[in-house]
Amino acid sequence: MTFEVARVRALYPALADGCAYLDGAAGTQVPFPVIDAIAEAYRAGIGNLGGAFAASTRSEEIVERARRAVADLTGGRQDGVVFGPSATEQCYRIANALSRMWTADDEIVVSRLDHDSNIRPWIQAAARVGVVVRWAEADLETGELPAAQYADLVGPRTRLVAVTAASNAIGTRPDVAAIAGHAHSAGALCYVDGVHATPHVPVDVTALGADFYATSAYKWAGPHVAAVIAAPELLETIWPDKLAPSSNSVPWRFERGTLPFADLAGMAAAVDHLASLAPGGAPAGSRRERVLASMTAVEDYEAALFARMLGGLEELGVTLYGKPARRAPTAFFNVPGAAPRLVSEHLAARGVNVWDGDNYAYELCTALGLEPEGAVRAGLVHYNDESDVDRLLAGLAELVG
Ligand SMILES: Cc1ncc(COP(=O)(O)O)c(C=O)c1O
Repeated sequence: MTFEVARVRALYPALADGCAYLDGAAGTQVPFPVIDAIAEAYRAGIGNLGGAFAASTRSEEIVERARRAVADLTGGRQDGVVFGPSATEQCYRIANALSRMWTADDEIVVSRLDHDSNIRPWIQAAARVGVVVRWAEADLETGELPAAQYADLVGPRTRLVAVTAASNAIGTRPDVAAIAGHAHSAGALCYVDGVHATPHVPVDVTALGADFYATSAYKWAGPHVAAVIAAPELLETIWPDKLAPSSNSVPWRFERGTLPFADLAGMAAAVDHLASLAPGGAPAGSRRERVLASMTAVEDYEAALFARMLGGLEELGVTLYGKPARRAPTAFFNVPGAAPRLVSEHLAARGVNVWDGDNYAYELCTALGLEPEGAVRAGLVHYNDESDVDRLLAGLAELVG
């Protein structure tokens, strides 16, 4: 069945401004059901947790609903879903807590492909303890992150391997399961940055071998709130810095301060929205089954649209970075002779929203010789259509002459 992009687009009020939103990798727009769920939480009245009154109970229910939703989205377990303000902050929290258990001469492995939020927190934590940092390198020609190199990088002293499930710059989807396998064979943990992958593919944290999986709802039609998913038994072994009177139980002890209840209501609604993207609306089955069916449909739809975009970009002769075999629908390119900012301004003037810069894929852009200006990033999500792609290509055609 054909992906019903017109039905999907009608749910996003922001798209009515007529822009081609190709900046989804930096944050998607938000559909009515998510906006309504956030408004409804405030309208109904929310209270802080643990009170004797109904508004407090409503907040407790919102938190539990959001944990269930994120578990359904990722294949994780509800009591292993930890909320926080951003994926960056989540990684800092886990890195700080885990590194207390490291000792000098232990080792960690980070990758040159990753967003800096899954590199710097680990490096800084390692430096405090005297832990050795080893680097997995991306092939700068193909954009691949070969999994085989981890056989040499991981050893008996390795405590953690941090890797992305998809590059937010060039889209590469490394073989995370193989990389996690290397980590586990040495007794190390694997922390997977799922921020860029989650909006584009069905996710199963168990199949990936992710001991931790981070995701940010604002990349998949939700509000600005993030989650890290881990097995509750693993979380039980980790003690983050926390306040004395706050809960000692898992996952609560990882959530410092008051949670954003209304945003969590929106996060759960965003999962329901993702589960409804398959042609025909909501297929039968559990929400987990509907998520998997919908995200499979999204992956197929985006792949076809991305082929149109990539083909057009190649025809125009722009400089494309990376051509990985398995990738999220995200293109990173430069127009010869034009600064990335100039290109994005030119496109913005034509109602085409793209990003320019390094997108915090700082190590990769440094290795590619692209710092500080980076490149132009055009990314697709489920609400993009052929006209968005064609407007991008038409705008660029004016520039390349
Ligand atoms: C792959 C990837 N990881 C991590 C992040 C950081 O996410 P957050 O803004 O939630 O800290 C981003 C944001 O762009 C990203 O694309």
